Amino acid sequence: LEKLYIMIINKNVLYSVFGNPINHSLSPLIHNFFSEYSGIHYDYNAKLIEIDSFEKCISIFFQNKYAKGANITAPFKNKAYFLSDHLTDRAFIAGSVNTFKKNKNNIIIGDNTDGVGILYDLKRLNYLEKKKISKILILGAGGAAKGIIPVLLQDGHNVFVYNRTIKKTKEIYKNLNMLGNLCILNNFDDKKLLFDCIINTTSCIFDPIFEYFPYNLFSINTVFYDICYNLNCDTSFLVWCKKRGALNCSDGLGMLISQAAYSFLLWFNCLIHIDDLINYVFKKIL
Ligand code: ATR
Repeated sequence: LEKLYIMIINKNVLYSVFGNPINHSLSPLIHNFFSEYSGIHYDYNAKLIEIDSFEKCISIFFQNKYAKGANITAPFKNKAYFLSDHLTDRAFIAGSVNTFKKNKNNIIIGDNTDGVGILYDLKRLNYLEKKKISKILILGAGGAAKGIIPVLLQDGHNVFVYNRTIKKTKEIYKNLNMLGNLCILNNFDDKKLLFDCIINTTSCIFDPIFEYFPYNLFSINTVFYDICYNLNCDTSFLVWCKKRGALNCSDGLGMLISQAAYSFLLWFNCLIHIDDLINYVFKKIL
């Protein structure tokens, strides 16, 4: 009866993910599964938006009285931060937003669930051991990296950031340095760099940008995580680390499901068992 009641009150509510590109997105499929799994009915679709029309599209979307929330993906997470009327603490710290929620007064709240999403998945995979401080290399310094870095620092890890555009890593250092042990790298010349965990947050799913990275960054014990995912073949990051003998590497499907579950929690105040969801979605998709 409780489920039926929720289904009735949520009839016609609308959620969407905005990005460019967006046609590869599995978020609509995942949210359909969440809806099926929880009994909470909501429509969720994907919208491609032109690079210069983000603000306009979001404003039009939320003028619809049924539009209650959205996910924001590359390359709009930084713009979403500035568009939010209010920010959750973690979105404020990150300086980037991947989830919007419209409240009763039509106020748009910006949240960031990327950090909690990846932390959940790294722990699920045993990539971050309990009570051990890991030395983590983050590749990329865009909106996704900004969501992830504070959560890893707050979990006690030593975080190093490398990005093509050095200005962005400097900005991250200035904003997040006080949260923990953060270091920026302008190159990989230091021969003593050896990481427990390397995470790709760049938006390069297939560009072979990793080919030139040196071998001394990892050992047989290093774990690799790509926040990108592709169901048909390995991403260029996974190709790179597998070619070099990586034993433990994962794409970002688990993170995608966990960050979606935290968005779901924000929207519906409903906590769902993330491991169950991951198994459920994996069974359906893979
Ligand atoms: P997201 O929200 O997914 O983080 P984003 O904010 O557009 O998307 O950030 C994309 C990231 O991928 C950036 O770190 C970007 O590097 P720059 O800051 O130098 O632009 C990185 N990236 C994208 N294309 C790249 C490429 N061809 N080589 C190296 N890095 C690239």
